[in-house]
Amino acid sequence: MSDDRLIVALDVPNAVAGLKLAETLGDSVSFYKIGLGMLTGGGLALANELKTEAGKRIFLDMKLFDIGATVEAAVRGLAQFDLDFLTVHGDPHVVRAAKEGAANSDMKILAVTILTSLDRGDLDDCMIRDGAIPDLVTERAGRALDAGADGVIASPQEAALIRQLPESTGRLIVTPGVRPAGSDSGDQKRITTPAQAIANGSDHIVVGRPIWQHEDPKSAAQAILADLG
Ligand code: C5P
Repeated sequence: MSDDRLIVALDVPNAVAGLKLAETLGDSVSFYKIGLGMLTGGGLALANELKTEAGKRIFLDMKLFDIGATVEAAVRGLAQFDLDFLTVHGDPHVVRAAKEGAANSDMKILAVTILTSLDRGDLDDCMIRDGAIPDLVTERAGRALDAGADGVIASPQEAALIRQLPESTGRLIVTPGVRPAGSDSGDQKRITTPAQAIANGSDHIVVGRPIWQHEDPKSAAQAILADLG
């Protein structure tokens, strides 16, 4: 089994393209993230295939948010797919409901705190209370972990702050926004290298475009794994 600290985001158009990429990456990658964009392109079938046929670990990035009863029902349904990680928004009632839904499975519930695409102006538009984003993220992470989340999604910078919370002991921090030194940052703003993200306290890094857009995805993945040491 390869180093499962690297999770590759399969942000390709459909399950056929996802399967092809996973075949190209072969044994070098053991953990994949399937997101909302793939859901209507056969995402759950792809998750099943990668899990049962190739023995891969699967992170389903659904960022669920609804009334508790609906979240619980959705998570209970998804738990039948033998997934490893599932994301929900980090509001305590959502996290508690998701944990109920996942109760009879090994699926870990990861909480999203504040989407990294939002700035303070966006939060004002959403009527989110005053405060600097890193402080709000850290407080929301603490509340989600208190509500029972198995971990949180955090940018590399946030990871270091969240790792200092007593609530984060024994919980997972999963970090997107990671770029190998010298690669294009794309629309990611608060980035670090893979090794720095792990040094900041992340357990897993999520990397998409630097791998799937690369002309040689397998060597790109292997370079990231080498950086993890
Ligand atoms: O291509 P890139 O490496 O930027 O992909 C990162 C992945 O992590 C994408 O699937 C993106 O949707 C996801 N993500 C993120 N930032 C978050 C949460 C998820 O970039 N805060």
